[in-house]
Amino acid sequence: MKYISKKLTVEKISIQNVAKKFGTPAYCYSYTQLKKNINNFKKSFKSFSPLICFAVKSNTNISLIQEIKKFGLGADVVSIGELMIAIKAGVNPKKIVFSGVGKTSTELSYAIDKKILLINAESKSEVNEIDRIAKLKKKKVQIGIRLNPNTDAKTLTQISTGKKENKFGVNDKTFFEIVNYCKSSSNIELKCLSVHIGSQILDYKPYEKMLKVIDKIIKKINFKFEFIDLGGGMGISYNNDNNKLDYKKYNFAIKKFLKKHKSKIIFEPGRSIIANTGSLISKIIYIKKNGKKNFVILDAAMNDLMRPALYGAIHRTLPSIKKNNVLKKNYEFVGPICESTDKFTSLKNFQELKEKDIIVICDVGAYGMSLSSNYNVRPKPVELLIKGSKIKVIRKRQKHKDLI
Ligand code: LLP
Repeated sequence: MKYISKKLTVEKISIQNVAKKFGTPAYCYSYTQLKKNINNFKKSFKSFSPLICFAVKSNTNISLIQEIKKFGLGADVVSIGELMIAIKAGVNPKKIVFSGVGKTSTELSYAIDKKILLINAESKSEVNEIDRIAKLKKKKVQIGIRLNPNTDAKTLTQISTGKKENKFGVNDKTFFEIVNYCKSSSNIELKCLSVHIGSQILDYKPYEKMLKVIDKIIKKINFKFEFIDLGGGMGISYNNDNNKLDYKKYNFAIKKFLKKHKSKIIFEPGRSIIANTGSLISKIIYIKKNGKKNFVILDAAMNDLMRPALYGAIHRTLPSIKKNNVLKKNYEFVGPICESTDKFTSLKNFQELKEKDIIVICDVGAYGMSLSSNYNVRPKPVELLIKGSKIKVIRKRQKHKDLI
């Protein structure tokens, strides 16, 4: 996204025109950015050609998953609903992995029927349940065990998953017990060791530590895993300061690991593939002054984009038309919902705004629409995919009649 003759533009289309044609709030995604992200990701790890399973939770739009699939990616799912979407999008089941601490019998049974690549189990009880269902169905099921490596991902506590106090995975003692259990089961084939230590990770060192923990455990149990699933979590720069994960260093650490262990690497990236492809386009309803503060009340709210309210996340916020030589003001950008957390950001020295101006909230392609809700009976925004000068509606705006 860039300014062309002062107009904020996605590929060849100005945001102003998108807003005029499709209304606001609207999520819009850039195909070219998506392609760039996928190719970049592949290139960064090309020496060991990993299986890249897109984390569907970050964006569940079926059209986007179809596009992602065309680049050869698989899917990482965490519920039967996500699994259904991935299959409907045409993702090869042999490229689907299923994570999550609370998979129900119905979910496990469906996954087994669909013959997906791996069910990554997260407890002894889950392994027992998989074994029971597999026996009933007279099937052999490929599983992974998710290890909790007790590694601090140095990210927000709300999105940290690899420390021993987190609910995810099993500790090394339970891991050994499950490995032994699997050896004696004729319906389970243990194929994978999986980990995922958190999200929006910017420092490669926690990954390096995580690999050391895996190395130690594999040596101790002396078991050959066909796959090592390293999860996702690769952080991106949300404020254009280029502070993102150093892929070269992460790649180097994995290559070192692979010298000792000949396994196929699986990744489960979400944010790094889709976050910076998406923007939320919104219109200013009112501008009001309360004491010293200038509030810009947008028609997008916390139900459309939860990240600021939930994690204090800050997204770049830009005017759709850049104006020079106008007054600069301090603004607080908020939504219309009756909650004080319904706030996007506060910005100083922003160009003077008017009611009905269009504002763009950037890098919302991951955990934007997928975390949205119908709070306040607010219909969900339309989703648009832009490719060059073409715009495709990839999800219609919800209507009140869908909700009432
Ligand atoms: N694999 C597993 C098992 C996961 O739990 C997650 C994310 C991923 C892969 C993908 O992680 P990514 O590459 O996107 O970082 N709603 C939060 C993020 C929650 C992440 C949950 N798990 C946010 O908006 O920042």
